[in-house]
Amino acid sequence: MRRTHSCGELRPVHVGQRVTLQGWVHRRRTHGGLIFVDLRDRSGIVQMVCNSQRSPEALEIAEAVRVEYVLDVAGEVARRPAGSEKPDLATGEVEVLADAMLVLNPARTPPFEINQDGEVDETLRLRYRYLDLRRERMRDIILLRHRMNQFLRTWLGAHDFVEVETPILVRETPGGAREFLVPSRVHPGEFYALPQAPQQYKQLLMVAGFDRYFQIARCFRDEDLRADRQPEFTQLDLELSFVEQEDILQIVERLHCELVEALTAKRLLQRPFPRLTFAESMARFGTDKPDLRWALELVDVGAIVADSGFEVFRAALATSGQVKALRAPGCAAYSRRELDELTRFAQARGAKGLVTMSLTADGVRSPIAKFLSPAEQQAILARVGAEVGDLVLLVADSAEVVAAVLSDLRVEIARRLGQLDPRVMAFCWIVDPPLVEWNADTQSWQAKHHQFTMPEVEDISLLDQDPGRVRAQQYDLVCNGYELGGGSVRIHRRDLQAKIFQILGMSDAEAQAKFGHLLEAFEYGTPPHGGIAIGLDRLMMLLADSENIREVIAFPKTQSAVEPMTGAPASVAPERLAELWVALRLPAPATQP
Ligand code: AMO
Ligand code: AMP
Repeated sequence: MRRTHSCGELRPVHVGQRVTLQGWVHRRRTHGGLIFVDLRDRSGIVQMVCNSQRSPEALEIAEAVRVEYVLDVAGEVARRPAGSEKPDLATGEVEVLADAMLVLNPARTPPFEINQDGEVDETLRLRYRYLDLRRERMRDIILLRHRMNQFLRTWLGAHDFVEVETPILVRETPGGAREFLVPSRVHPGEFYALPQAPQQYKQLLMVAGFDRYFQIARCFRDEDLRADRQPEFTQLDLELSFVEQEDILQIVERLHCELVEALTAKRLLQRPFPRLTFAESMARFGTDKPDLRWALELVDVGAIVADSGFEVFRAALATSGQVKALRAPGCAAYSRRELDELTRFAQARGAKGLVTMSLTADGVRSPIAKFLSPAEQQAILARVGAEVGDLVLLVADSAEVVAAVLSDLRVEIARRLGQLDPRVMAFCWIVDPPLVEWNADTQSWQAKHHQFTMPEVEDISLLDQDPGRVRAQQYDLVCNGYELGGGSVRIHRRDLQAKIFQILGMSDAEAQAKFGHLLEAFEYGTPPHGGIAIGLDRLMMLLADSENIREVIAFPKTQSAVEPMTGAPASVAPERLAELWVALRLPAPATQP
């Protein structure tokens, strides 16, 4: 290879060596008769110096180059003159005295600055993603993601997991997220689906005897997008045979601890990871994905205010709602404007209002002070543990609204207080959720995780009378307020699986038509098994301190599921549709989304 070194590797030990580098012009500065060109490749940046004594030819070319030109530079590594070292640059003690410079390819002026970290419109970044990926932060994320995948493969291989690829063109599976469909050309009127997860295949691999499977699996879900959701995303998918829930939690916990330690300087807040039951997490934090970097919890004050003079509280409790409170330490001095902001924050999440109580040295300040007796006020403050200088926030509503509002307010307060340190990872397990939940729209029970999840053994007898009370052998891995992964112990007996299908409102015939292959497989000797899938994009968000899932994916889709660089999705020629036996029935232009 002509290139002898990469830009980022040059150090004082190379001084005196002749090198040939190839890369992009990161920056160019003229200084008297000198031209400095910072040359960049994936490994980093190093400074070239061109002057007329050493090489008038190189100087002439350096005069003509612009940012992002691709160059070939030959020269000699030298120590930078005393005083001009750059301690924040890895190559900052040296420079390359250019003897020859060649333009391998010129470049148009980029639509945004690549050599600066400034804010750039995201659509523009995605339209020119190949330029965006040249920026330092994006390069670092992609390289970190590479190291994460390498780590996972090595670790899992060393722990006896077998990597198996499962199909992307699969049969539609009802019951989960909406799937993308792919029309079949050779089977008119029939469709493949893109898998929302390799769930059935990984269970069938257990039937096949590969007792520990993993895959870095692409999954597809046609659902509404959010800051932590993409229509295609990647899971670390695991399945194990001859294990119980405890075995799976332990191995996944170890994997995460060792991954974080190997790839980052982050601190694990607690180890072993705390375990919360689903019910406990909802009661204490109002969510099944609590951010445990902040210790304060929601407090139920319903019993204190049940007979109070504040109609809103009484009404909520009378209609089986709740009144819950949250302490915001040191926030008693919040201004009118700040309190209004918090109220709007609460209303945006469905609250009808937000009661504030500021505990100052002169006593309690609250818009509802006149409706609560001094004893009631004191009891609330004591119950939440408020001290002088604290602010207490109260919401009265249905349990769902109270949870939704106060869980977000809890995080918002922690954020305002600077308590959500990105260098800390607070993992926890959420266990024992209900197996099924009632869907009021369809008037039927619906699986909370998925239909292959094993009930808690002691709850199986409740399946007939009271399915809503049956707990599942299911677990979510949560970190810093994100659901990172979810999994379960699976049903491996045909009779129990058939019973669950029945509770979910599926007739025998329907279950047979949709899952006959699985039920049949379970008749050929199925080991007890279970597994989990970790969302690798979300894990990367945490590792890379990003709040935007698009930032950790090389070529992501926008919030409206578009890929701005190539322009997907796009219309196709009528002949292609005809070949696929597809006819279009488009909405009238006015109603088009
Ligand atoms: P589940 O549906 O909980 O479980 O998904 C597992 C994890 O995948 C990630 N994830 C997503 N990430 C980005 N964008 C999305 N649209 C998206 N949807 C899910 C989350 C989530 O925790 N087959 C089961 C696992 C099992 O039972 O073993 C499954 O897919 O981080
Ligand atoms: P009002 O009597 O409507 O002026 O409300 C008095 C205070 O109670 C205001 O600060 C409202 O924001 C608050 N409030 C009203 N409804 C609720 C509710 N459901 N939960 C908490 N606070 C509320």
